[in-house]
Amino acid sequence: MLIAESMINFTTNHAMTELIKVNNLSKYFTEGNGLFAGNGRMLKAVKAVEDVSFSIKKGETLGLVGESGCGKTTLGRCIIRLIEADKGEIFFKNSDIRKYGRKDIKSIRKQMQIIFQDPFSTLNPQITIGSMLKEILRYHGIAKKRESEKAVELLNAAGLGIRHLKRYPHEFSGGQRQRIAIARALATEPEFIVCDEPVSALDVSIQSQIINLLKDTQEKFNITFLFISHDLSVVKHISDNVCVMYLGGIVEYGKSHELFSNPAHPYTQALISAIPKPDPKSGNNKILLKGDIPPATEIPGGCPYNTRCQFVFNKCRTEKPVLKKTGNVHCACHLGD
Ligand SMILES: Nc1ncnc2c1ncn2[C@@H]1O[C@H](COP(=O)(O)OP(=O)(O)O)[C@@H](O)[C@H]1O
Ligand SMILES: [Mg+2]
Repeated sequence: MLIAESMINFTTNHAMTELIKVNNLSKYFTEGNGLFAGNGRMLKAVKAVEDVSFSIKKGETLGLVGESGCGKTTLGRCIIRLIEADKGEIFFKNSDIRKYGRKDIKSIRKQMQIIFQDPFSTLNPQITIGSMLKEILRYHGIAKKRESEKAVELLNAAGLGIRHLKRYPHEFSGGQRQRIAIARALATEPEFIVCDEPVSALDVSIQSQIINLLKDTQEKFNITFLFISHDLSVVKHISDNVCVMYLGGIVEYGKSHELFSNPAHPYTQALISAIPKPDPKSGNNKILLKGDIPPATEIPGGCPYNTRCQFVFNKCRTEKPVLKKTGNVHCACHLGD
């Protein structure tokens, strides 16, 4: 996964191995439907995602992290065209799927899936898990006589079994429901899955089981993941590369082990320092994040992080830093200038 200046070389050497490539993607919302809110107040644009570029190699996982509201879900949904981006390109297997019409989109839907934080809200409470899986398999053209066998295969792949076929969603625990969501995502034999906070609603002990299941599934079926989480400790164990987002943009990216061992951006440093340490005696070097993340309607000028940064200086308030190589990671910060 590479961005900005490195992308030029990357395209020629590795184009075949990139499954996903996103170029300068932006997505804006407006609050409400009209130009003016009540009391004549002008509505402001919500810059949920602004000029984001990255790529993911086939079979790899890109972790996408950042505080709530920084644009992770919007970005994930734009990439699989659940919502439409406003600007930019999205290449899936070297083809710009933003240019696809409705019919072409259907052809790639099968190959791109999403797993949500709360699978219960996306499971129909009135149908059994077996019926749900068979319905999806039928929709995607599996022969009727193979439906049951395939549904059991899917449940097995997600660590469940034949005994679960006739059960309803409410009969499962949170972890099991996420297993069902994984089985459902696998039903169409996808090449790419957006995992949007897939373990954030689960107990810590269950989190690692689901992460391990996702890892095993990835290896077995050679699936590519965009793994979204606000929790860096979760992303660390599953990602090959990590992108850190702040107010709609990427502030740092790099190989997971580089970024965790030597973070360059003050925001990444603060997020990493907040991860609880296994050994409490190893010292408490927590960097406190000042205040809350500003609203996406009021992104500060210059560096978007300048209002919370402990190293802020004048240039940070006037010039927006671009992503550039800093050590072994790419970082958008004036500190190294
Ligand atoms: N449908 C929408 N309409 C208006 N604003 C939205 C909508 N979806 C998301 N946003 C705003 O976009 C920003 C990014 O949201 P989101 O992508 O959900 O962030 P994250 O997943 O990182 O928590 C937030 O400010 C959020 O309020
Ligand atoms: Mg989200």
